[in-house]
This record gives sequence, structure tokens and C-alpha cells, in this order.
Amino acid sequence: MKREHWGSRLGFILSVAGSAIGLANIWRLPYLVGQGGGAVFLFLYLICLLLIGFPVLISEILIGRKTEKAPGLAFGKIGESKWWAAGGRLTILTGFLVSTFYSAVAGWIMGYWIEAISGHLEFSTFSDASDHYTHLVSNPYWSIGFHFAFQLICIGVLFYGVRQGIERWNKILMPMLFAILIILVIKGLSGPGASKGLEFLFKPDWSKLTPSMGLMALGQSFFTLSLGQGTMVTYGSYLNRKESLIKTGIPVVIMDTAVALLAAVAVFTIVFSGGGEPASGPGLIFHTLPVAWSQMPGGTILASAFFFLVFIAAVTSEISAMEPTIAYLMDEKKLKRKNAVLLCGSLVFVVGIPSALSYSLLSGDVVAGMNFLEMMDFLCSSILIPIGGFLAVVLVGWKWGLKKALPEIRIGSESIFDRYRFLSGYFWVCLKYTAPILMIFVFLNSIGVI
Ligand code: ALA
Repeated sequence: MKREHWGSRLGFILSVAGSAIGLANIWRLPYLVGQGGGAVFLFLYLICLLLIGFPVLISEILIGRKTEKAPGLAFGKIGESKWWAAGGRLTILTGFLVSTFYSAVAGWIMGYWIEAISGHLEFSTFSDASDHYTHLVSNPYWSIGFHFAFQLICIGVLFYGVRQGIERWNKILMPMLFAILIILVIKGLSGPGASKGLEFLFKPDWSKLTPSMGLMALGQSFFTLSLGQGTMVTYGSYLNRKESLIKTGIPVVIMDTAVALLAAVAVFTIVFSGGGEPASGPGLIFHTLPVAWSQMPGGTILASAFFFLVFIAAVTSEISAMEPTIAYLMDEKKLKRKNAVLLCGSLVFVVGIPSALSYSLLSGDVVAGMNFLEMMDFLCSSILIPIGGFLAVVLVGWKWGLKKALPEIRIGSESIFDRYRFLSGYFWVCLKYTAPILMIFVFLNSIGVI
């Protein structure tokens, strides 16, 4: 079967950006910043992106571009052993598992969007907003129904393939996402809480600078760039061999970071305008923002726009987490694309059911005080994703070796490397030392060893 390729550089950049920009930018980063002393967290996060996120992103896309295969075959080909192939398949499994609980959470976002449109998100107190959230997520029909609907939408996009499905929809949805975000930022900045929100966001509270904050920033930089889950290897495998990794990778990291910062500006200026608590944690967008919107003229429209924005971000990320499994079923099991998409989508729906029910029928703890959804999130974000990213970086930096890998990274970017000579040294140091060492550190910390 001939491998499909992206139609244009812009299409690839927007699709990778669509994968990267997701719940981690709009929901997770604002609440981590809220809890992490504002600018201190942002500062650590940007350092992590530079020293680890960007080089690992380039390594993963490179593995795909070089081999034109799904991650299992790709890792096996470069690593020249079945063990490396098994490592590649582990990253596919990680992407699959991420897509199961991501779909459950994205289903709630979709449900919240419908609530917003129908004017059901107007509250005068934070406890009313919080009760409404509990009421919705504890309803199993609501959770499963939206998880199912969300999966149907993703299947619908993936069905049409790389160019007509993934690329086409990212080219439509990403500009929409930017436009909505800009409107929300302008609205936030014109509110009474603007200066307090900006001060909170950009004035560092250095007392919050702790090792665990650094590790949280590192974990966030991984999750937000969709690393360690087969996605970037798979998207890279549809890339033309001559396409520049630098000219595509840099805009993606800039867009991802810009959306995270703009979302944080929109969220905190609105939170301060509504008298909310910036450190209110994961419930920030569900409990705190609706109360703030309720006090503003046009609040229903703003709430609808916000949840539509998060919904778009979730669709473009979810399809990218499912695509490695689809590519695996096509490359290794020789399924036709439509069959692979249907099989993958059905499995994601079924395996995602316990996550969708984690605050209703299955609300009990499964392990170590975590319910099923929290356990899946922990398993993927803290264990499997760091392992996957680590494998990619060791494969490129050590097994393949930079003597062979660096000339490959240069392909399509020769003039940039000639002009900015430090780039070769930067990749050498990051891929060989900084990234793997810091990743081991994060991993040991996340499983409680250090
Ligand atoms: N990168 C995706 C996100 O940020 C998974 O949500």
C-alpha cells in the first residue's frame, strides 16, 4: 500500500500543532500556573521546552520521516532489533491508552459546551457551579453519551485519511481556535481584573521555586507536545523526506507555547474579574470560570466560545493519539484504513468506558487513592509517556548515534545549520545528555523513588 503524505508544509505544521495544543494547554497549564506561583512555573516550563521538549520532538519526527513506518516498525528499523520494535509498539499502546481517558474527559468538555449554549452555566456562587459539575459528571448516561459522541466525531475525521481527514480538519479548526482565543483574551484584558490577572501570571513568586515544581513543569512540557506516545513518529512518517524538521518544529513549539500563554491570560484575567480563586486546581475551568462569566455582559456567548475552543483542541489532539494505532493496524496487520479506524475507534470507546464512569458508577478508588481515570492518567503521564520519550531519545542519541542522526536532522535545514552553528552542538548535548538525564530524574520522581 502506498503511504499517504501531507499535502503541504502548512498542513503538517497545523496538524502537529493541533496535536500539541490540547487540554494540557487550556485546562492543565492555567491551573498548574495558578498553583505554582505564576511566572515561576512558566519560567521553568519554558526552560524544559528548550532543553528537552524541542529536541525530543525533533527526534520523534525524525524517526518517522526516516523510516516512513508506524512506531513499532520504525523503532525496529533504526534500532535493528526486535526489542526496539517492542519499545516502539509500547509507545503505540501508550497513545491508545491516552486516547481512551482523553476521550472521556473531552466528552465532558463537549457536554459543557452544550450546557453553555443552552444557558445552563449561569451561577451566582462558586458552590452552585461546583454542585452543577458534580451533578453532571455523576450521571453515567451523560458521561458515556458524550464519550460516545466525541468518539464518533474523531472516527469521522480519521476515516478520510491523512490529507482529506486529519490535515483538512486541522487547517479549518486551528485558525478557528486562534480566533476564538484572541477574542477571549481581548475580553479578559478589558475586564476589571486584567491588571491583577497579568500581575499574578507574570510576576514571579520565587518562594514557590521547588524541585517538585520543576518536575511538574517537565511533565507538562512532555504531555503538551504529545511526546512518548507514538504520535510524532507517526505524523513524521507521513512527511516528505526532504522537509525541514527545524522549519516545521520551531513554529509548532511557538504556537503551542503561545496558545498556553494566551489561554492562561484569558483564564486569569477573567478569574480575577469574577473574584475567583486562581489556585483552585483542576476545577478552575468548570467551577471558577462559569461564575465569572455569569457576572459579565454576554457571559453565555463567552462561555460557549470558551468550551468550543477547548472542544476543538481536544478533537485535534485525540485524533493524533489514535493515529499511531491506526497506522500500526495498517502497516503491521495490513488492514484497510477504514477498517483500522473503525476497529480503533470502537476499542477506544469500550476501553474508555471505565474512565467515563469514574465519577459515577465506578467512583471508588482502584489503586493508591486514585479512581480509574486518575489511575490511567498517572500510568500514562507519569510512567508510559516518560518511558516512550526516553526510548526515542536514547534510540537517536545513543543507539543510532549522533554521527548518523545529525546529518539526517540537517536534511532540508542545511542553510539554517550553516548560519547558526551552535545548533549542531545544541542537539548533540541535548539528545545525548540533558534530555535523557533529566528524563530519568522526572521518571524516578514521579514513581516516588527520589
Ligand atoms: N498534547 C495534547 C494536549 O496538550 C495531548 O492535551
